[in-house]
Amino acid sequence: MGEVILVQSGYSRSHENGELLCDSVPLRVIAETYGTPTYVYSANTIRDRYNALSDALTGVLGSSKFRLHFAMKSNSNLSILGLLRGLGAGVDIVSGGELFRALKAGYTGVDVVFSGVGKTDEEITAALKAGIKSLNVESPAELEAIQRVAESLGVVAPLSFRVNPDVYVDSPHPYIKTGEHGMKFGIPDDQIVELTKRTLELPNVRLVGLAAHMGSQIAQAEPYGITAKKLLDLANEIRALGVTTLRYMDLGGGIGVTYENESPMNLIAFANAIAPYVIESGLELELEPGRFLVAESGALLAQVVYRKRSGGKDIFITDTGMNDLIRPALYEAYHAIDSVSPVENQIVADIVGPVCESGDFFALDRTVGEVEQGGYYALRGAGAYGYVMASNYNSRGRPAEVLVDGDRYGLISRRETHEDLLKLEYDTPLWNIE
Ligand code: LLP
Repeated sequence: MGEVILVQSGYSRSHENGELLCDSVPLRVIAETYGTPTYVYSANTIRDRYNALSDALTGVLGSSKFRLHFAMKSNSNLSILGLLRGLGAGVDIVSGGELFRALKAGYTGVDVVFSGVGKTDEEITAALKAGIKSLNVESPAELEAIQRVAESLGVVAPLSFRVNPDVYVDSPHPYIKTGEHGMKFGIPDDQIVELTKRTLELPNVRLVGLAAHMGSQIAQAEPYGITAKKLLDLANEIRALGVTTLRYMDLGGGIGVTYENESPMNLIAFANAIAPYVIESGLELELEPGRFLVAESGALLAQVVYRKRSGGKDIFITDTGMNDLIRPALYEAYHAIDSVSPVENQIVADIVGPVCESGDFFALDRTVGEVEQGGYYALRGAGAYGYVMASNYNSRGRPAEVLVDGDRYGLISRRETHEDLLKLEYDTPLWNIE
């Protein structure tokens, strides 16, 4: 491989021939091998991210233990889960489906924490049967449900309160904030002591931790420090009630990444902001990073199907759409767009998908490389909340997924076929008669 120009961690442009590479594999080769649209992930980038966060924490936590529980809602492919498991990660799950996947990927109960505001009896049952590390409880009603299910199974359920710390974070979009009172997430911090008293009356639950998650794409360390301090204070109040079972302080996910020109989280500042409170609490730290570990590892490859002009604008129509990557349509999110092969010119254009919605675009009036019809673009920063949020809208099958590891590349999920799209359906109803 010749000299390369770094585009972003995991992605670079070859000096020799101008091709965009993921690790050392040309993206054009992947597009030609598997077709498009296809998601690509750099294994090395995921490893680097995991190690960077781990190293920053190891540096300041002294003898306090910590564990990274990957928020698998951000990318739940079995191969990605396997890669992270190999690095030592646990998982943060939010559904019975994610539990099923995590177990299939080789995680065991002790690797799993379970967040989510609407856990059903069925999901609580599956979690308790798997022996998970902690159910992160998000309401008093859920506490009662867990007691009821645990009693019927004859087990004691380990649980953490997911505290809503009422901390403001500067997320780029209101849909990815969670940590303020009045939002559906967590139990308001001023209700925690009362609820602890209630747990002491319940024989089939054991309070093992305090958790919080403030939101997503957070670039500042301060809110984490404020939340850690709140959890430390609550831990002290709870211990004063005679509770001796607290073991974990879970500060959630949310660590921000660079999509455009945002400054990334300073990991040393992050670790320093939380360390004093974690150490003083004597609790083991848990974090639930999703985006941070996988977002920048991923790109979505798309082929230019047509190009046209309208209203004085150039419009490039690609074969990938909002059904494959919904973040621009849902959050007005920015994803960098690079030509996969070298181009002569830059052009200001709209890059859009084929879906029958005006909101089906990836960029408007963006300066991009001028790719010929049949050429490829790479939409970067697509490793988190990309494939997992894909749908079959317009009866479009979901893309293929490919993992790159150094100079190797391989399929980690095949493209969905038209046949796949019909496999749950009946062409006449299975009638019942009342
Ligand atoms: N823990 C809990 C309880 C969460 O709800 C989330 C994300 C995470 C951890 C992981 O957060 P992260 O480290 O990935 O920021 N679809 C949106 C993001 C939704 C995040 C939902 N919760 C997006 O594409 O930006």
